[in-house]
Amino acid sequence: MKRPVVVATLCTGLVTALWPIPSSYESGNEVLWIDGHVQVDYKLNSQADNSFSNSASEQIINSAVERTFLTIFDQNFVPWKFNPRNSNYEPDESNRQYVKSITLQQNTPEPTNGTRPASTIDESYTLSMPASGEVVITANSSIGLSYGLTTFSQLFFQHSDGGAYTKLAPVTIKDAPKFTHRGLNMDTSRNFFSVMDILRTLDAMAFTKMNRFHWHITDAQSWPLEVPALPELSTAGAYAPGLTYTPDEVAAIMQYGNSLGIETAIEIDMPGHTSSIWFSHPELITSFNTQPYDTNCAEPPCGSLKLNSSAVYSFLDKMFDDLFPRISKYSSYFHSGGDEVNVNAYLLDDTVKSNDTAILQPLMQTFIDHVHGKIRNNGLTPIVWEEMLLEWNLTMGNDVLVNCWLSDESVAQTVAKGHRAIVGNYNNWYLDCGQGQWLDFSPNVSASFYPYADYCSPRKNWRLVYALDPLTGIPENSTHLVAGGEVHLWAEQIDPVNFDKQAWPRAAAAAEVLWSGAKDASGQNRSQIEASPRLSEFRERLVARGVGAEPIQMPFCTQNGTQCYV
Ligand SMILES: *[C@@H]1O[C@H](CO)[C@@H](O)[C@H](O)[C@H]1NC(C)=O
Ligand SMILES: *[C@@H]1O[C@H](CO)[C@@H](O)[C@H](O)[C@H]1NC(C)=O
Ligand SMILES: *[C@@H]1O[C@H](CO)[C@@H](O)[C@H](O)[C@H]1NC(C)=O
Ligand SMILES: *[C@@H]1O[C@H](CO)[C@@H](O)[C@H](O)[C@H]1NC(C)=O
Ligand SMILES: *[C@@H]1O[C@H](CO)[C@@H](O)[C@H](O)[C@H]1NC(C)=O
Ligand SMILES: *[C@@H]1O[C@H](CO)[C@@H](O)[C@H](O)[C@H]1NC(C)=O
Ligand SMILES: *[C@@H]1O[C@H](CO)[C@@H](O)[C@H](O)[C@H]1NC(C)=O
Ligand SMILES: *[C@@H]1O[C@H](CO)[C@@H](O)[C@H](O)[C@H]1NC(C)=O
Ligand SMILES: *[C@@H]1O[C@H](CO)[C@@H](O)[C@H](O)[C@H]1NC(C)=O
Repeated sequence: MKRPVVVATLCTGLVTALWPIPSSYESGNEVLWIDGHVQVDYKLNSQADNSFSNSASEQIINSAVERTFLTIFDQNFVPWKFNPRNSNYEPDESNRQYVKSITLQQNTPEPTNGTRPASTIDESYTLSMPASGEVVITANSSIGLSYGLTTFSQLFFQHSDGGAYTKLAPVTIKDAPKFTHRGLNMDTSRNFFSVMDILRTLDAMAFTKMNRFHWHITDAQSWPLEVPALPELSTAGAYAPGLTYTPDEVAAIMQYGNSLGIETAIEIDMPGHTSSIWFSHPELITSFNTQPYDTNCAEPPCGSLKLNSSAVYSFLDKMFDDLFPRISKYSSYFHSGGDEVNVNAYLLDDTVKSNDTAILQPLMQTFIDHVHGKIRNNGLTPIVWEEMLLEWNLTMGNDVLVNCWLSDESVAQTVAKGHRAIVGNYNNWYLDCGQGQWLDFSPNVSASFYPYADYCSPRKNWRLVYALDPLTGIPENSTHLVAGGEVHLWAEQIDPVNFDKQAWPRAAAAAEVLWSGAKDASGQNRSQIEASPRLSEFRERLVARGVGAEPIQMPFCTQNGTQCYV
């Protein structure tokens, strides 16, 4: 019997299962069960290139299949929160129809043959699951197939008597991302995170098809990065012995990310945000821990690399010569920072002794030219914070990606200057905001800071995250310069205990905007009412996979369609 196929997005109340929503998604209401014996075949159409070693692809596919099975059979959930109270929503267990086979068809050989992914990998895929159970996923890359499998795993639910089923067959999906850069920024300087915390974050990112891990690895407060050529940096600058990342750990994190389709951009923020270098090299840092801090920096401890110092350049060269060859095996990017440089820090800089931008600007240009030259010599693409372009007016190559954070307008200004922009307006995508102050105030001044809101409060509710359209104010002829965006999790008040609930599921709201676009098929803003139960469901999947994501609604809201709306 052939049942009518419904377009899921038009059908409120239906459990639609997928996050982010595919470009095109049709589903039905037939039941299919799945068991661990299902046949999986990987077919690589590598017509011309027989010398191509496909072991990297096979590794990606094998781990994707393993993850898919783990997710469906061991880390799944019973969806009582998404079905009417005490209703009999689970499928009949007699006469089960099963998924018979899963064919993974890769149409073109891998665009790269090494461990390092091509940044412009084709992430598109198609998924077909007829009611007869022969599943076919096609893609042009192993990562595309891996995404198809991720989508596939989200179609299945756990039965309360055991086993896994979908009620959505037949399924037809054609999917591709709207934006190429879909990132999350993790700050491991303000607080330290273990390798396991980072790997868990990469897993969660991949589950919502994010593909850039912006690793803000050092900052003013601590230097956890081990640099063998300069071991004193971390022995003196880490918070405590052991709270460091070894070269092997950095490589393992980057490699693991690549296996999930996630490219890591390591950031060493400079010339500001470098005070932790002072613990090993006080001669390179100006204005260390000056008070009151707010005349010389954005937060304590102040400190900036000296701006006209040959010692600073020798130091940076030594660090880059050690670091860049190692990271360029796994990534195409290095982020040289450049946010919140406070001119007054250079009044005390014995190589400059000035806070006049007319004097500082050419020095900053020389600094950036030098740093970016080293980055490019190692085959890497530089990323900078927007201030380098929009406040310091530096001239930079068009290859440079600009991390915008201050406004939507700064994205428009960046693309108007011909640069590619990464969106991330702090009013929407700073997920650390709204926790209140972390500074303490003396009794005589505390009243004037009451009730101790932080600079970027309120907390960014997922709806606010979801409301950011990366293309806001971007002229038609420049939309291609909006590479995508990133959510940010600055770690003054985030550590491994609360990271997951700060990040998830709100980061996934941005991930859907970046994968699916901010507008629906009819060109309207995506509906919170449609998205909310899907995001709640995605949250249950994250929790089932060991990610401590916070709830966004009570079951009352999701148990009978959408009962909580205005
Ligand atoms: C990878 O590709 C490059 C250039 O296309 C080639 O020089 C190299 O030998 C290849 N490596 C392997 C392991 O196939
Ligand atoms: C693969 O590449 C072809 C040719 O560029 C394109 O038409 C297709 O949409 C891509 N994606 C998939 C999933 O086949
Ligand atoms: C920078 O340093 C050089 C040599 O150390 C010096 O000659 C020059 O005046 C300095 N520039 C500024 C703007 O202080
Ligand atoms: C530069 O320093 C002088 C004091 O030496 C100060 O009055 C002025 O406000 C500073 N300029 C900026 C832009 O902060
Ligand atoms: C950059 O240009 C803007 C606008 O012309 C100007 O206000 C600003 O002072 C310039 N910044 C520097 C560091 O020269
Ligand atoms: C407030 O009290 C602190 C000591 O707790 C003192 O150092 C500071 O000068 C006082 N500030 C004002 C504005 O009175
Ligand atoms: C759609 O969302 C944008 C923000 O991205 C907002 O400015 C605009 O007002 C919304 N449009 C409607 C019709 O609500
Ligand atoms: C887009 O169009 C504007 C106005 O016609 C023009 O100034 C600008 O250079 C164009 N931008 C690109 C990237 O083509
Ligand atoms: C569930 O929703 C339907 C309409 O969508 C309504 O008629 C029904 O009363 C609701 N049931 C409960 C238990 O709230």
